[in-house]
Amino acid sequence: MDQRPIGVFDSGLGGLTAVRALTERLPSENIVYFGDTARVPYGTRSPDTILRYAEQDIRFLKKFDVKALVVACGTVSAVALPKIANDYPFPILGVVAPAVNAAARATANGKIGLLGTSATVKSGAYEREIKALLPSAEVFSTACPLFVPLVENGRVRKDDLVLMTVIEEYLTPIKAAGVDTLILGCTHYPIIADAIAAFMGDEVTLVNPSAEAVSSLASLPNFSENTQGGTLRFYVSDDPVGFSKNAELFLGHSVGDAVAQISLEETLR
Ligand code: DGL
Repeated sequence: MDQRPIGVFDSGLGGLTAVRALTERLPSENIVYFGDTARVPYGTRSPDTILRYAEQDIRFLKKFDVKALVVACGTVSAVALPKIANDYPFPILGVVAPAVNAAARATANGKIGLLGTSATVKSGAYEREIKALLPSAEVFSTACPLFVPLVENGRVRKDDLVLMTVIEEYLTPIKAAGVDTLILGCTHYPIIADAIAAFMGDEVTLVNPSAEAVSSLASLPNFSENTQGGTLRFYVSDDPVGFSKNAELFLGHSVGDAVAQISLEETLR
């Protein structure tokens, strides 16, 4: 097996949805994760800024001699990835196409909901890919800018009154539209999937873009091993304490010793 790690990055905790899927699907792989917690959120920023951040994040992970990179950020995948996907000597996988493929397979009534950051929804990337695959589909998109700060602050449980109030406000129109499939188009959102499912009801299929991207990666010939033993390293650009606490909650095991803080400015100098 090629021992080089798989790089994964996001603005913060959201990419852990990809880490979790990777450790379940490809447990022998070594993973190096970067969460740009000093600059989260990305989803409220301009396309130029998102592109610049994405290039810096990839330059940082490139130092680990990664064999592949998962862009575990819907915003970067939608806004920046098409411009840079071919600029690096390793495969770079985003979350948009895998999520759209899964949604197209799942929908029976052709009504697909999309939740994402403001930048993702504005980019129109998911809609374009859905229409290319399923021209008759109707897409109902909603930007949910409050979800990322709620997740980053650990407000993720379905008995959290604040979270459920925000979910109700954002999702009521999408529920009323009768979607049978809902793309959680920001990688932070699967962390609150239980709360979203509680509001939408069991009959709506939720699509987790990170899990779909990892399935695509797992289907490549060099990523098919199924033994244990992969290592996990985490880097963040701000205080690791909050990240470790929430990461532990989400991943179900302690990450304390494996998290280090870095300064992008210094590392990329
Ligand atoms: N988790 C990211 C995404 O998938 C970024 C959210 C943010 O930083 O705004 O869009």
